[in-house]
Formats: sequence, structure tokens, C-alpha cells
Amino acid sequence: MKIIRSNDVTQLLSFQEAIQLMKQCFIDYENKKISQNIRTVATLPDGEGKNIFAVMPAYLGKDRYFGAKVITAFPGNRSLGIPSHLGEVLLFDSKNGSPVALIDANAITWIRTAAVSALATDYLAKKDVRKLTLIGAGQQAESHLAAITCIRDICEVLVYDLSEERRRHFINKAKKQYPQITFISCTSVQEAVHQSDIICTLTSAKEPFLRKEWISPDAHINAIGTFTPDTRELTSELMGAGQLFVDDYAAAFQESGDLLIPIAEKKLDETAVVGSLGELAAGKVKTKIDRSKITIFDAVGLAVEDLCCAEYIYQKSEENLI
Ligand SMILES: NC(=O)c1ccc[n+]([C@@H]2O[C@H](COP(=O)([O-])OP(=O)(O)OC[C@H]3O[C@@H](n4cnc5c(N)ncnc54)[C@H](O)[C@@H]3O)[C@@H](O)[C@H]2O)c1
Repeated sequence: MKIIRSNDVTQLLSFQEAIQLMKQCFIDYENKKISQNIRTVATLPDGEGKNIFAVMPAYLGKDRYFGAKVITAFPGNRSLGIPSHLGEVLLFDSKNGSPVALIDANAITWIRTAAVSALATDYLAKKDVRKLTLIGAGQQAESHLAAITCIRDICEVLVYDLSEERRRHFINKAKKQYPQITFISCTSVQEAVHQSDIICTLTSAKEPFLRKEWISPDAHINAIGTFTPDTRELTSELMGAGQLFVDDYAAAFQESGDLLIPIAEKKLDETAVVGSLGELAAGKVKTKIDRSKITIFDAVGLAVEDLCCAEYIYQKSEENLI
């Protein structure tokens, strides 16, 4: 069985390629050509109450591949200098059920999450926007910057993180990679989102920090950081004010605290979700997207995304004799 490490994943799958791959993935998912089971997410009984172990299976079809991402999320890992998400994607050949590859899941998650946000942003944000906000300056901030600059001509990036050191480190690195972009280090969420066009929330926060009254009335938000029913990044009022889109109805209504908490508080109705990314990609969203309103893409992350990336990376590695 082939083992494909992080460096090879990032060599084999560019952000441009990943955005196209995720588009086809969501079209296939919407048209039921590929499928997944809702993941098993366990909070580890380690007394910390925050470390997660998840198993995410998906099936891409008879003449393709299937498998599962098996991953941990340890939010405290940053202080140890290692990524918060660690694991592997195990890929099987659908012809005979044999395992063919074990692929680094941190690298796949890093790329595919941002590629999915970029795809949603391309559908939901205005075309001529220039200003991007990143809240949370960790791994996902890096990949979101790379992916969103593939689909919009970003000139200014506002960055906020609870940790001043991470914010500084992120900006110093990004300035070298993107000399054409102005980076602004912000000392509050409010400052970071003021008059911004695209806002990505990429934190491991438990309590909501992003408020409606701080945001431009036509901003687009990618709410990415939290994926459990009891954690969220956006306030109920903001969720109630936006045109809501999800990566998957079933997963969102099981896992997204951003959605489930305001519904439980009776501040949001289930019918408030106007579409999924699959419907957007397949051209099936019936409601007109109102770009004069706040649009919100709430993603919990799907196994089909991981398996489509794993298949692509494996096949490309075979072609390139890696
Ligand atoms: N939806 C998905 O598909 C998906 C995929 C991957 C990761 N995630 C989640 O996205 C989040 C970011 O992932 P990452 O790999 O970049 O993690 P990371 O640990 O590298 O970075 C998270 C950053 O958020 C900052 N932070 C925490 N709380 C904050 C707050 N209230 N305000 C501002 N900053 C805050 C931390 O200081 C840290 O720098 C994690 O919660 C992760 O579980 C979601």
C-alpha cells in the first residue's frame, strides 16, 4: 500500500485544482453519484472535554474508490508546535475492495476546506470585492488566503487572532508570499470585519464572537471553525440576518452549532437555510441569491471532499511515479 505524506499532497494538489475538484465533488454529491455516512465524532474521555476523534467514511462509486478519513482535532496542539488536525485518509479500490493508499489527512483537510470555502465564495460573494478578513490565524487562515485569492482579486487582508503572536507570525509570513497584498493586523474582531467584503471565521472558539452590527450589509461570511452542535462563531442575530447556505443539509442539521443553537433558541427557523453548496454547484438553488444582503456559508466539512481529494492525489501520484 502506498503512503503519501504531507509534502507530496501539497505538491500534487494545488488550490486551483482543488477548487475545480470540489466543484465536481459537490455536483456528484448533489446528483447522488457519490455518497457518505454522517461521521462519528467522539469527544475523547481524557478529561479535557475538547479533543475530538472522528471517522468519516465516503463512497465514490463502483469504478472509483471509497474509504475513510480518520482524524483527531486537538485545539491545544498549536502550543506544542504541531497541527490541531492529525490523521490519515485510507483509500480502497472499489473494483476489489483492496486498500491502495494511506494519505496524510492534515494536508488534505488544509487544502480541501479552503477550496470548498473559495467555491462557495465564488457563488455567493460579489464579483468586484477586494477586502478579505481572516479571524483565527492558524493553519486554515493560510489555506483560505491561498484559495480565496484564486477566485477574487484581493488587495487588503485584515487579520485577527486571540493570540497576538500567531497574528504577527501569520502576517509576517503572508507579506513575503503575497507582496501585492496589504495586510492589516487588527486588535479586535470588530476592527477586522469593518467594511470587509469576505469574512472567514477560522477559530476553535466555543462562544460566538461575530456580530451583525459590525458587518457590511452585503458581506459574505464563510463560517468554518466550529463543527459540533454546542460550539459556534456567529451570533444568533447574525445567523437570522443572513441568507444561509450549508455544505450539506443532513450534516449541518446534525453538527452545526451555528445553526442548531439559534434554532433551539427559536431565533432561527429551519427553513432559513436557502441552499446547499451541491445545489449551488449543480445550478439547482431556486431562491435568487440576493447579493445586497449578507450571505453566510456554514461548513462542517464532509467525507466526500476528503475522498475525492484522496482519489485525485493517489491517481496523480501513480501517473507521476511518486
Ligand atoms: N469546517 C471544516 O470543514 C473544518 C475543517 C478544518 C478545520 N476546521 C476547524 O477550523 C478551526 C481552525 O482550524 P486550524 O487548523 O486553522 O486551527 P489552528 O489551531 O491552527 O488555528 C486556530 C486559531 O484560532 C485562534 N482562536 C481561537 N479562538 C479564537 C477567537 N475566539 N477569536 C480569534 N481567534 C481565535 C487560535 O488562537 C488559533 O490561532 C478549528 O476549530 C478546526 O477544527 C473546520
